[in-house]
Amino acid sequence: MKTKYVPILSVVAILFVFSCNELAMCGEKKMSIKKQAFGKTEDGKNVDLYTLTNTNGLKAEIITYGGIVTSLQVPDRNGKFADIVLGCDNVNDYAKKSPYFGALIGRYGNRIAKGKFTLDGVEYTLATNDGQNHLHGGIKGFDKVVWNAEPMQTDKGPALKLTYRSRDGEEGYPGNLSCTAIYTLTNNNELKISYEAETDKATVVNLTHHSYFNLGGHNSGDILGHELMLNADHFTPVDKDLIPTGEIKPVKGTPMDFTSPMAIGSRIEQVQGGYDHNYVLNSSDGSLALAASVYEPKTGRVMEIYTTEPGIQFYSGNFLDGSVKGKGAVYNKHNGFCLETQHFPDSPNKSNFPSVVLKPGEKYTQLIVHKFSAR
Ligand code: BGC
Repeated sequence: MKTKYVPILSVVAILFVFSCNELAMCGEKKMSIKKQAFGKTEDGKNVDLYTLTNTNGLKAEIITYGGIVTSLQVPDRNGKFADIVLGCDNVNDYAKKSPYFGALIGRYGNRIAKGKFTLDGVEYTLATNDGQNHLHGGIKGFDKVVWNAEPMQTDKGPALKLTYRSRDGEEGYPGNLSCTAIYTLTNNNELKISYEAETDKATVVNLTHHSYFNLGGHNSGDILGHELMLNADHFTPVDKDLIPTGEIKPVKGTPMDFTSPMAIGSRIEQVQGGYDHNYVLNSSDGSLALAASVYEPKTGRVMEIYTTEPGIQFYSGNFLDGSVKGKGAVYNKHNGFCLETQHFPDSPNKSNFPSVVLKPGEKYTQLIVHKFSAR
C-alpha cells in the first residue's frame, strides 16, 4: 500500500470505531454499571462515580457526593449522542461553585421564609442561606453530603441505590430522617428517581432533583428556543425574595401560560427576573402524571417529565452568569433550565398548600420519570 493512503485509511477506521461507539445503530448493547473514583471531599471522604448504561447506549454518570448526575448522554433525531446536563469538573467545584447542578435536594427543596416554621406548637429555626431565607436544605443540604451507594441490575435497567441518614437537628430540622433515592436508567430511555424517607419525630420533607438541562447539549448556548409545555393551569405568585404570597393564580392570558407548547424565550422579557416559579400541576392526586414536556427544535430531542408531586418549579437559569465553568463549557445566563418536581415552596408556613409534614410511622415517597426521545 502506498504510504500516502495510510493516514486516510486510519482516519476512516477511527471514524468507524467512533461512530459505532456513538450510535445505537451498531447492534444491541448490554446494560452495565461501572464504578470509578471521582475524588475526595475537603474532609477526606471518598467520592465515587457510577456510570449506568442502558441497552440503547444511553449513559448516566452519578457521583456519591450529593447524588449528583454529572453527565447524561442521550441521542438526537439522527442517533447522535450529547451530554444534556450542566456540570462541574471535580468535587471541589461541586462543593464551592455549583448552583446545585444535578443534585438530590433535601430535606426541603426550595424556600422556607426566614428559615422558620412551627410544628406541633414548637418553632424550629433552620439554617439560612438565601438572604434571610432557607433554600434547598440549608448550608449543607443533601446536595453536599456523601451518600452510601449500592449498584443494582434490575429488569428495567441499571440502577443505583443511594442512602443517607440525616440526623436530628441537621440544618435545624427535627427528627432523624432516613432517605433512599434510587436512580434507574431504564431500557425505555427513562431516567427514573424514586425517593423514600422515614422519620422518628414529626418533620417536614420536600425532596427534589436539580439537573440543569440543555437538550441541545450542555455546551450549546441558551435554552430560549426550547419549546416547553407545562401541565398546569395555575401557579403560585412570589414576592421579591421568591417566597410565595400564598395565592394560587391562573396562568391564562399571562406569560406564565405553558399549557400549550411555547418557546421559553418567547415571553421571558415580560417576566421580572425570568422564570423561577412553582406551577400547580393539574393532576395532584399523587398518581404518576405528565407534568412537563420539552422539545429542542435543532436536535429534535424531547424530554417528558412525569411526577407524583403536586408542583413543579420552572427555573430558566436566570442566575447563571458565566462564573461557573465545567466539562469544557462556560455557563452563561439561560444556558440551562430546571424542572424540579416538588411540594410548593414555603408550604410549612402556608396552611392552604398541600402538607409537607412527615410523622413517625409514615413513609414519604416520590417518583420522577424523565423520558427521552427525539422527533
Ligand atoms: C431556585 C432558584 C435558585 C436556584 C439555585 C432553583 O431551584 O428556584 O431561585 O436560584 O435553584 O440554583
